[in-house]
Amino acid sequence: MSLSPGRRKASRPGEDRPGEGRRILLGISAGIAAYKSAQLARLLKQAGHEVRVVMTEGAQAFITPLTLQALTGEAVRTSLLDPEAEAGMGHIELARWAELILVAPATADLMARLAHGHADDLLTTLCLASDAEKVMAPAMNQAMWRQPATVRNARRLAEDGWRLLGPDSGDQACGDVGPGRMLEPEAILAALDDTPGDAAGLTVVITAGPTREPLDPVRYLSNHSSGKMGFALAAAAATLGARVLLISGPVALPTPAGVERHDVESAREMHDAAHRLAQGCHLFIGCAAVADYRAETPAEHKMKKREGEHTLTLRLVKNPDIIASIAAREDRPYVVGFAAETRDLEAYARDKLARKGLDMVVANDVSRAGLGFGADDNAALLVWREAGATDQRTLPPQPKSQLAMAVVRQAIDRLRAAPPS
Ligand code: PMT
Repeated sequence: MSLSPGRRKASRPGEDRPGEGRRILLGISAGIAAYKSAQLARLLKQAGHEVRVVMTEGAQAFITPLTLQALTGEAVRTSLLDPEAEAGMGHIELARWAELILVAPATADLMARLAHGHADDLLTTLCLASDAEKVMAPAMNQAMWRQPATVRNARRLAEDGWRLLGPDSGDQACGDVGPGRMLEPEAILAALDDTPGDAAGLTVVITAGPTREPLDPVRYLSNHSSGKMGFALAAAAATLGARVLLISGPVALPTPAGVERHDVESAREMHDAAHRLAQGCHLFIGCAAVADYRAETPAEHKMKKREGEHTLTLRLVKNPDIIASIAAREDRPYVVGFAAETRDLEAYARDKLARKGLDMVVANDVSRAGLGFGADDNAALLVWREAGATDQRTLPPQPKSQLAMAVVRQAIDRLRAAPPS
C-alpha cells in the first residue's frame, strides 16, 4: 500500500523559535492528583518552558498556590474577578500568551464544563478564550471515568481538538482499582513531544481483548485478556492523529477518546470484522488473545450433567488465524502481531514473524508477575521481519499506556520507511 512520502508534522508555535521552550499555561483542577502537578511544573520548567499556573478554587484545597509560585517563579492566578491580577496581565492577554494549555489533573467536573463551553471560572474562561493547543490529563475515580456522561464528554473534547493523555489504570487514592489515575508527570512531559500529526492520514485497525467461543447457550471458552493493552494501543494511535478502528472482544473498558469501536464475541466474528475494516487501512495491530479453537458444534440447549459419567469430551476445531489471513491479503497493510509467551521470547517471536508473515512482533513474557494479562504494566521485545537477527528492541516494564505509545511509534516509523507494496 502506498503512502504519501515523508512524515507530516503539525507545526507548533514553539518550533518557530528553535532552542526555546514554549509558553505553557498549566491548569490545575480539584483532584487528589493535584499534588503531582507541582512535580509537573518543575519538569516543565527544567525542560526550558515558560510556565504560568492557573488553579481552580477546589484545587487549592489539595495544593497551595504558593507551592506552584515557588516552583515557577510566577504569581499563580486563581480568580477571574481579581482586579489586582487583571491589572498585571488580563485574562484575555493570558489566553493569548499561552501556546499550550495543559490541564493536569482534569477532573470529571472540569471536563464536563469544558465539553459544554462553560466559562464560569478563570480556567474554563481561558480555555474558551484561547486558540492555543490544548492538552489534558484526566484524573478521577474509575467509576466516574466509566460513566456514560464522562465517556461522552471525553469524546466531545477530543472532537473539539483537545488531546487527552491517559488516564492510566491501576490503584487509586480512594482504594479502587481501574482506569482514572493521572499519568505520571514524566509521562505527561514525554507525551507533549508526541506530535499529534505524526499519524495523520493513517488508518489503524487494532484487535483487543479475548474472544468467547460458545459451548452451549450459557458456557464458553475464553482467556484472561482484559483488553488493557489493545485499548492503550488504540488511545496512543488516536493521540498521534490516526483514524483508529478498534475491534474488541468482550471487555469492561471505556472506549478511548476519538476511537471507533466495533464489539465482537467470537474469533470468527473478529475475523470477519478485521477483514471488513482492514480494507484500505495502513496499519493492522493484532493484540487480541484469540481462542485458537472453538467447539465444533455448540449445544443448542444447556448441557446437563450426566449421571454416572465422570468425563466429558469436547470436540474442538481450529479457528481462523486472523492476523495471518490479514498478512496474506493482496492489499495487506503493515501488520504487527503480539506474541504471548512464557519462555524463549525471541525464538518464538521470530517464529511467529515468519510463520504468520508479519512485519513486526511485540513479544511479551506473560509469566512475569505484574505484567501481561490483566496487569496495568507490560514489558516487551520488538522484532522485525526486514531486519537482521540482531535488530530488536527491548521495552522494560512500564505502564501499558507508555509501552503502547512506543509500539505505535515504532510501527508508524517502520511503515513510513517501508517501500510501497
Ligand atoms: O488484554 P490484556 O489483559 O492487557 O493483556 C494483553 C495481552 C497479554 C493479551 C497482549 O499483550 C498479548 O500478548 N496479545 C496476544 C495474545 C495471543 O493470543 O498471543 P498468541 O501468541 O496466541 O498469538 C499471536 C498473534 O496471533 C497475536 O497477534 C494474536 O492476536 C494473533 N492470533 C492468534 C490466534 C488466532 N486465531 N488469530 C490471531 O490473529
